[in-house]
Amino acid sequence: MRVIAIMNQKGGVGKTTTTLNLSHALALEGQKVLMLDMDPQGHLGSCFGVDTYHSSGMDQVLFNETNMLDAIQDVRDNLFLIPAGARLGEIETRPQELNNQRNGYQLVDALAQIDSKAFDFILVDCPPASGLLAMNAILACEEFVVPVTGDYLALQGLSRLIKVVTHIEQALQKDIRKWFVLTRFQKQRKLAQQIKNKLINYFPHQVLETAIRENVSLAESPGFAQTIFEYRPRSNGAQDYRQLAIDLLENRTLH
Ligand SMILES: Nc1ncnc2c1ncn2[C@@H]1O[C@H](COP(=O)(O)OP(=O)(O)OP(=O)(O)O)[C@@H](O)[C@H]1O
Ligand SMILES: [Mg+2]
Repeated sequence: MRVIAIMNQKGGVGKTTTTLNLSHALALEGQKVLMLDMDPQGHLGSCFGVDTYHSSGMDQVLFNETNMLDAIQDVRDNLFLIPAGARLGEIETRPQELNNQRNGYQLVDALAQIDSKAFDFILVDCPPASGLLAMNAILACEEFVVPVTGDYLALQGLSRLIKVVTHIEQALQKDIRKWFVLTRFQKQRKLAQQIKNKLINYFPHQVLETAIRENVSLAESPGFAQTIFEYRPRSNGAQDYRQLAIDLLENRTLH
């Protein structure tokens, strides 16, 4: 079982879009995939037409009110979801109510309830923040997929994220495999190419081969509660996420 956090504290870089479409692409490849929404905004659930605020979700799981297995919803063939739930944000604001002394380890403990052979992949959609929810994801995941957009501020935020993660890796003597993926990529833009080259320089063998192109169908499909493979299966977006899934299955990177 590969447990992967889709992580970047920068907002709007394509974390949720990547979580849902990469997960569905993996499921269509025959992998059994569970998605966890760790963002109180609850967008991942909305993308599947799930009413986050009336579902038991990651809030109850982390507050230790529900067993993780009971919160899993079956959303597509091979594809499962635990939505955020209405009170997920309270993890950040009322952490004293977590009846677990090991703060930050709620997700680690919850995942221990799942048989390691139950799923091939668990993909965790993280919030655009670096609080307790993100910390839970960092501690629970062995791999990160970091979506990066081709704009000027993208790299600045990245160095901070890497610093935090390196610090945690050293403190815990844990090795997190990091994958970077270019999202909202516009090949004709010089700046996007520059960011791509810099990323490959900084992180050799860690940038996944496929860049996700800017594609309006990716932005439209959640409005119909569909993934890109249902909404526009022949679009660039579908093509790119299908390839990205293979990159992840076969460790295909740029160097
Ligand atoms: N490749 C793409 N082409 C076009 N639009 C995209 C693409 N990827 C993401 N978007 C759009 O950009 C916006 C931000 O994407 P998304 O919600 O996936 O980012 P996020 O990192 O999860 O944001 P947040 O930090 O708020 O959780 C959304 O409207 C989404 O539909
Ligand atoms: Mg999001």
